[in-house]
Amino acid sequence: MPTPLRELPKLSAKPGTPAFLADAPAHFRWMHAHAPVCRTKIAVINAVLVAGYEDCKALLEDDRFTRDRRKTGARTKSPLPMPRTVRILNNNMVTEDDPEHRRLRSLVAKVFTPKAIATLGERVEGLCAELLDDFPRDQPFDFIEAYSLPIPTTVIREMMGVPAEDMPKIQAGLRGLQRMTELIPMLTMLFVHMPRTVRILDAMIEAKRGEPEDDLLSALIRVEEAGDKLNHEELLSLAYTIIVAGYETTVHLIANAVLTLLQHPEQLAEIRADLDGPLLDAAVEEVLRVRGPIQTTKPVFPKQDLVFAGAELPRGTLIMPCLATANRDPAVFEDPDRFDIHRPKRRHLSFGGGPHFCLGAALARLETKVALRALLRRFEHIELAVPESQLVLQGMPLWHRYDALPLRVR
Ligand code: HEM
Repeated sequence: MPTPLRELPKLSAKPGTPAFLADAPAHFRWMHAHAPVCRTKIAVINAVLVAGYEDCKALLEDDRFTRDRRKTGARTKSPLPMPRTVRILNNNMVTEDDPEHRRLRSLVAKVFTPKAIATLGERVEGLCAELLDDFPRDQPFDFIEAYSLPIPTTVIREMMGVPAEDMPKIQAGLRGLQRMTELIPMLTMLFVHMPRTVRILDAMIEAKRGEPEDDLLSALIRVEEAGDKLNHEELLSLAYTIIVAGYETTVHLIANAVLTLLQHPEQLAEIRADLDGPLLDAAVEEVLRVRGPIQTTKPVFPKQDLVFAGAELPRGTLIMPCLATANRDPAVFEDPDRFDIHRPKRRHLSFGGGPHFCLGAALARLETKVALRALLRRFEHIELAVPESQLVLQGMPLWHRYDALPLRVR
């Protein structure tokens, strides 16, 4: 018998609120124990969260769900008229279903190959070394500003061929994302920053059409010019998706990894003892499991009324697989809240699943591993420069990212 949907406990404990962030694992435990499919609000939006590991995996592979709510016949009119540029940037491969999604993804995959990524190791090492040279000794500094932000930003900027002077403008626009639950930052982002980003990308594409370079954007333009496979708006939207996806998440994976290792000094000592061995890879995977920077995917919507994981879901309901909860499913991971680099291998869901599985997973893993190894090699002593209680998690629902990570090294 399908069961009625339950609410997350306490009204204050909506994802992203201080009460939720103060002890997210406790909410995840409650979901597993009492309501593996439950109703909540994400900012002002009604949503249903799915908690179980197998359920999240199944949801991401289930073609009874669509990424495009319009296909469900539900009323989708936005309360505000959206500028054209916002519609362009929001309609990308992450929000398309197959076969349309497969078409776009295979075009990107053509230029975003494992071979192209594997060649980046040396460049990432060189970049890390330069950044480490500038670390102050024995003085507090923000690790995110100094290290975990510039690494993926520079790599994706160079891969895509974004001029150095344009990257800060694209990044400034994204800062509004951190306060998307507040009206003014949201409107500024939608009506000022996103249109400006489209103008920057338009100019870049125009310049590279005239003078192609050895970068991914030029390669995508060649794909566009090769036929009607990719139109200009799709090209814009793909370029934006790759640039943003390329650094927004990895910044926080590197920072979350350093914090987690500092909180587990015995495991850190084991990793330090064999920096070229497999423990560093295992640590990156375990950080992704317990502190992955994004805790959900884009929403999916049932195309018809249906029953999923024992719950009745009306057509058009906004559903989110809660990847962070799935990664702490006690049916799959023993003692799931424990950080343990020796855990038997079992794939976490932090890179999503199904046809939309993260296209940049190999790059994110490479950058994080190289960044950690270089940092640990360079400094024997690394410590938090503030009490842990002073670290501030950003109030973005279902993300795990700190405002800053003050460290001291020598
Ligand atoms: C720690 C770092 C990262 C995490 C945790 C992460 C996580 C994810 C997740 C959960 C998805 C699935 C989204 C969905 O189903 O709605 C995704 C998709 C995607 N990711 Fe990542 N990502 C990371 C880094 C990267 C990097 C470095 C790139 C590229 C340079 C990248 C490019 C993409 C793209 C293009 C997609 C869309 C794939 C599709 O729709 O087929 N990601 N990522």
